[in-house]
Amino acid sequence: MIKIAPSILSADFTKLGDEVQSIKTADYLHFDVMDGVFVSNISFGFPVLESVRKITKIPLDVHLMIDLPSRYIGKFIEAGGDIITFHVEAETPENIRKAIKSLHDHGKKAGLSIKPETSCNVLLPYLDELDVALIMTVEPGYGGQKLIESTLPKISELRNIIDNRNLKCEIEVDGGINHETAKLCAGEGADVLVIGSDVFTASNREQYITSLRNL
Ligand code: DX5
Ligand code: ZN
Repeated sequence: MIKIAPSILSADFTKLGDEVQSIKTADYLHFDVMDGVFVSNISFGFPVLESVRKITKIPLDVHLMIDLPSRYIGKFIEAGGDIITFHVEAETPENIRKAIKSLHDHGKKAGLSIKPETSCNVLLPYLDELDVALIMTVEPGYGGQKLIESTLPKISELRNIIDNRNLKCEIEVDGGINHETAKLCAGEGADVLVIGSDVFTASNREQYITSLRNL
């Protein structure tokens, strides 16, 4: 069954506690950290993550859209992250390996993300150790964008590689996911759907999450 990871970037921050409760049936809570350098937007960081950690048991799926993320892996672990995913474009191979090892040494899950223009090939050296491969289906930086259709073949490409190697790595897709595009991504072999604007504009969020799970 496909997993659903609502992105709180699209939540109403004047009532974040209620917003988190409204999606309590989700599989992961997606947490988009942006630094204004790696992407041209700034979102939120440790204080918000620590606060959300106190009110939910749902795995916190932290998506770091920041420059040189290996500097902050330890602090995101301390702040309550369960899955910490960072961008392959933002780090050196040496630091990527160190960050994955550090996450596993702390009992956390490690993910690597690629932008729409980045080939799946850059993930291959790390795939055996990864818990999540996050395929961006929009340019990172903002919620509410339209899915870039040319990213879809990357999902099935990675699906084939993971299945042929019999690996545990989950394929997560992120950006422009709604009822229509969710079907496309599931059809290509995605395991986890990140959904921001579509879930937080749904009239019944729990019903929406359930309907997507049964795709
Ligand atoms: C974009 C973020 C996504 C975004 C998803 O940089 O990584 O997680 O919040 O929002 P929607 O579903 O509205 O595209
Ligand atoms: Zn994200």
